[in-house]
Amino acid sequence: MDRIVVQGGTRLEGEVRASGSKNSTLALMAATLLAQGESRLSNVPRLRDVDGMLELLRALGANAEWVGPHEVRVVAGEEINPEAPYDLVRKMRASFMVLGPLVARFGTARVSEPGGCAIGVRPVDQHLKGLEVLGTKVNLDHGYVECTTGGLRGGLVRFDMNTVNGTQNVMMAAALAQGETVLENAAREPEVVELAEFLNRMGADVRGAGGDRITVRGVAELRAVNHTVAGDRIEAGTLLCAGLITRGDVTVTGIDTADLESTLEKLRQIGFLLEAGPDRVRARHDGPLRGILVATAPFPGYATDMQAQIMALLCTIDGSSVVTERVFENRFMHVPELQRMGADITLTGRSAHVRGGSRLSGAPVMATDLRASAGLVLAGLAAEGDTVVNRVYHIDRGYERIEEKLRSLGADIRREA
Ligand code: EPU
Repeated sequence: MDRIVVQGGTRLEGEVRASGSKNSTLALMAATLLAQGESRLSNVPRLRDVDGMLELLRALGANAEWVGPHEVRVVAGEEINPEAPYDLVRKMRASFMVLGPLVARFGTARVSEPGGCAIGVRPVDQHLKGLEVLGTKVNLDHGYVECTTGGLRGGLVRFDMNTVNGTQNVMMAAALAQGETVLENAAREPEVVELAEFLNRMGADVRGAGGDRITVRGVAELRAVNHTVAGDRIEAGTLLCAGLITRGDVTVTGIDTADLESTLEKLRQIGFLLEAGPDRVRARHDGPLRGILVATAPFPGYATDMQAQIMALLCTIDGSSVVTERVFENRFMHVPELQRMGADITLTGRSAHVRGGSRLSGAPVMATDLRASAGLVLAGLAAEGDTVVNRVYHIDRGYERIEEKLRSLGADIRREA
């Protein structure tokens, strides 16, 4: 099993381009099921999760493949078998997003229940509630969700909590429902907005995405289109934190800076110097730094997917910080690993109290989820000696060639088989 070895202590400098957004790509790939014909997505990140979604689309009977280094092609004709098997859904929860498109286009779908995962229980009740409002009959059978409908009709869906994939799943189904659907308390994440734009290009009528009330007027048919995926705001934030944890000077390009504002605001509060253009950010160290309070929240709040990375950064900053996780109930697996690297962190419920400033020391570490692994790589960049991050497949789910990108900025980092 591959591992990443980081020798800490090098100051990172230079410019690096963010890949396309993983989470946007996964939703857009599910949306390709809504139309017959050939959809093409470009600026697609080369990731394990994208391979997983391609595999799922093929298992459903679609023609789905890489056609370039960063381009995928999906043809979802009439010959779809609307069953998403356990083995594929279990590996990647985003697979559950095929449910809405399948039931909307084929009137029936059978998708494995995703179950919990390392960062929490993560139920899908809101996805199902929304689909039921639209006229889907939902049956839970032997670990599978079976949905049937005689034809979807619009309705009022009020989500009980902010759910990104839930909003996306129901929005996709509503695009082909008869009449108007209103989604209240909808997620406002940029990936929801990008999906809405994609659906509209396919011929849908989705309005209000980016706000908490989305209106979808259903249409009879959608057509396959081409689309270029937006830059990954989480990868961009991770690369900025990588530069800053070494007190370096790093510019990240290829992103919509507005999507990154909650991260940039926290980095400024710490005392880092940021220069942001519309599609690039330069971040560097110049002046005194201080500990801060960070609490994750749905967009436009501070992203939970950037929690482990900022915690690693705060471990290197003199003073006291508190990081509170409000989106997932169990997203602190990086804490014991950071402690093994010498970090002074106390966990109390959903908050981690970080007393930063002492030098981290390299150690063998292991992570159980994607963003936690990224946090550990960052800690390794600042630590004295070698840090060996095991179970690299977690990182490969969401970061394309992270070691190459960091090396291009001067990091001493390598992958070992
Ligand atoms: N929730 C429910 N019921 C539901 C849906 C969600 O209780 O039906 C709860 C979840 O358990 C969680 C909270 O609501 O506590 C928010 O979950 P959400 O549904 O928003 O998460 P998601 O849509 O499954 C996406 C991203 C995650 C990211 C979250 C939050 C994708 C493929 N995944 O997940 O990304 O953390 O939104 O922003 O879009 C990652 O990339 O590392 C990652 C985990």
